[in-house]
Amino acid sequence: MSNPSLLILAGDGIGPEVMGQVKRIIGWYGDKRGLNFDVSEDLVGGAANDAHGVPLHDDTMAKAQEVDAVLLGAVGGPKYDELDFSVKPERGLLRLRKEMDLFSNLRPAQCFDALADFSSLKKDIVAGLDIMIVRELTSGVYFGEPRGIFEEGNERVGINTQRYTESEIERAARSAFELAMRRGKKVCSMEKANVMESGILWREVATRVGKEYPEVELSHMYADNGAMQLVRAPKQFDVILTDNLFGDILSDCAAMLTGSLGMLPSASLGAPMESGRPKALYEPVHGSAPDIAGEGKANPIACILSFAMALRYSFDQGEEAARLEAAVEKVLADGARTGDLMGPEGGTPLSTSEMGDVILAALDASL
Ligand code: IPM
Ligand code: MG
Repeated sequence: MSNPSLLILAGDGIGPEVMGQVKRIIGWYGDKRGLNFDVSEDLVGGAANDAHGVPLHDDTMAKAQEVDAVLLGAVGGPKYDELDFSVKPERGLLRLRKEMDLFSNLRPAQCFDALADFSSLKKDIVAGLDIMIVRELTSGVYFGEPRGIFEEGNERVGINTQRYTESEIERAARSAFELAMRRGKKVCSMEKANVMESGILWREVATRVGKEYPEVELSHMYADNGAMQLVRAPKQFDVILTDNLFGDILSDCAAMLTGSLGMLPSASLGAPMESGRPKALYEPVHGSAPDIAGEGKANPIACILSFAMALRYSFDQGEEAARLEAAVEKVLADGARTGDLMGPEGGTPLSTSEMGDVILAALDASL
């Protein structure tokens, strides 16, 4: 049987640096666990624009459709600020999400014990936090038509459309309930049913799907209240189900609860392929961090944990995913810190590759 295939799109800014550490981890699984992947690499975002004048080449798109999973680093940077909107780096990522139909975006926010002090919230509010945001990723205001900037009388008007079909809500909701069944059996659905018709429909459909999961406790919250509750008492949540735009905002908020944006992975999943594996793209929640790009300072953990999610959700290697997560937890408990994780007491931060070194050593020690 041939090896499962991975397409690496490291992208811009710190993307290639953090992905460099993931490549070492992938190599470790081949050498030490007999888990071999056929890895290919290509360009996305500003890097693709530099090479081809577009943020995602058609050939790259075609490759992404064929592989078992895509690993993405980050896209964007000030160098590309002046580019036309249609070829901005972000458009490459959005094209991948849309054309691969990756409707379910899983964004876990877990607070590692060793980092509870780094949260901007009090330690007891975040210690032990373990929530999962399920963000609908292929519809809503990110993609709805009509959209554009139009002339209206003697001024211009900017238009985007929040649009959700029942089936779009339904499949995102179903993935949230399925996850909840394997976790704390609670789903909180967030929308703005008090002001938006799309929110009314969202609530209705979430309730209907919820009836298929009688063991799961479903609650509803307006998204603004949800943001407030996330910083007030985040441990009340297990799975949060929400739309594309609210999910974008709420997941950044949830991420920061854990101490650093440099820690959080994500998985974007679509429908099952012929192999039974879902279409999948894995990427850190953080961006390209142009301010520290190229300096070897970036924290590779979010990208490494994204690969752990790939092991779990694409390759049915839950135990190996747990091994990698435990290695990360171990090095943090031992005091390994990149610059983003330095407390006021200071110390010497590890470089990106030094963080890779200690995680690899912890993996070795796990054997
Ligand atoms: C995210 C990012 C993206 C989004 C950008 C880069 C297009 O913020 O993945 O959260 O808005 O979805
Ligand atoms: Mg975002």
